[in-house]
Amino acid sequence: MTYMKRIAVIASGRGSNFQAVVDRVSDGYIPGTCVRLITDNPNAYAIERARNAGIPVSVVDFSSFPGKKEYEGALLATMEESGADLFILAGYMRILGQEIVHRYSGRMMNIHPALLPSFSGLHAQRQALDYGAKVAGCTVHFVDEGMDTGPIIIQRCVPVRADDDEERLSTRILQEEHGALPEAVKLFCEDRLMIDGRTVCVLPP
Ligand code: GAR
Repeated sequence: MTYMKRIAVIASGRGSNFQAVVDRVSDGYIPGTCVRLITDNPNAYAIERARNAGIPVSVVDFSSFPGKKEYEGALLATMEESGADLFILAGYMRILGQEIVHRYSGRMMNIHPALLPSFSGLHAQRQALDYGAKVAGCTVHFVDEGMDTGPIIIQRCVPVRADDDEERLSTRILQEEHGALPEAVKLFCEDRLMIDGRTVCVLPP
């Protein structure tokens, strides 16, 4: 039998992208196993989603540590202990330290609600609106030491409409996120992603 990749998702809040991955694992589209939800927020709705899906949860509560160093030490230990092959940052709202980034280079991806390299960081959808962009979208990328700068795996775009506000635009982008993230995870699980410098090559099935 072929080895099924082990997937861990790291999320801070609502967890709709986590849910999209869980759903596509359970319908067989992603040939992998979701082994863990890790969250820094004990009130994250993602926890309920994990419980409903029978996925183990690790809460590494940022506020229970004296500082970022101790928090990241505990996070790293939890990540190691999960035994995951792939870590997905799905609405993880903190910047990861270099040690973790280096340790999981090439096997950690992030979903961002903008067409990178435009509008990195927080409130990406609002940034796109404020800038007057006519096209917005989402990016799934491997994580490197920069903020939202790693090699791009998949991007999907949506129009920005004249009457958009942040919520309407975010909803339209989110719908694309829920397709793009499972697609990137599927490609990873099929060993079809090859990183060549800044370029991610997608190998044929
Ligand atoms: C998503 O839109 C994701 O792209 C974004 O947070 C939202 C999380 O939603 N991530 C970032 O902005 C990271 N910089 P979710 O919890 O429902 O998946």
